Amino acid sequence: MGPKNAMTAANLRSAYGGESMAHMRYLIWSDIAEKEGFPNTAKLLRAISYSEWAHARNHFTVLGGDIGDQLVASGAVFGLGKTMDNLTGGFMGEEFEIDQMYPVYLQTAEFQGEKGAARTFGWALEAEKIHARLFHEAHDAAKSGKDIGVDSFYICNICGHTATGSAPGQCPVCKAGRDAYKEF
Ligand SMILES: [Fe+2]
Ligand SMILES: [Fe+2]
Repeated sequence: MGPKNAMTAANLRSAYGGESMAHMRYLIWSDIAEKEGFPNTAKLLRAISYSEWAHARNHFTVLGGDIGDQLVASGAVFGLGKTMDNLTGGFMGEEFEIDQMYPVYLQTAEFQGEKGAARTFGWALEAEKIHARLFHEAHDAAKSGKDIGVDSFYICNICGHTATGSAPGQCPVCKAGRDAYKEF
């Protein structure tokens, strides 16, 4: 069963659209980073793309089983440039989600008693905070022509939580076990 409230349903569709596009955009930018000789940044973009996939899947799942076309409005960053510019687009998009989109969607879902939506919005919000920080780190490195100094990333396939260096024994966000983490 999907959400009972039209506004939360619209927010879920919009967030699904935004995450779907972020998933694709980061894969495109990953190829650019690879070609520019930033293998760790390319890996970071692939890992975060997977995290956005988990968010899109969760939002879609909470929407439930009503089959039918919907026109979806969602914010998305556009632009294809050098990795340094693409990373700027990366943290801009993440910061919009952290500062505006997810807090409002989350509070609306809580107000409307939409537990499933509140959970998927809350999980995404936590992951986006880490994404923004990592994009800033990669951007700072790229400004001086360097690659980010982290070469292993772990994504929780339940909630999208993003770890570096090693996978935690338990996801701090959704409490899934270490097995839930996919390594990049
Ligand atoms: Fe993100
Ligand atoms: Fe998780």
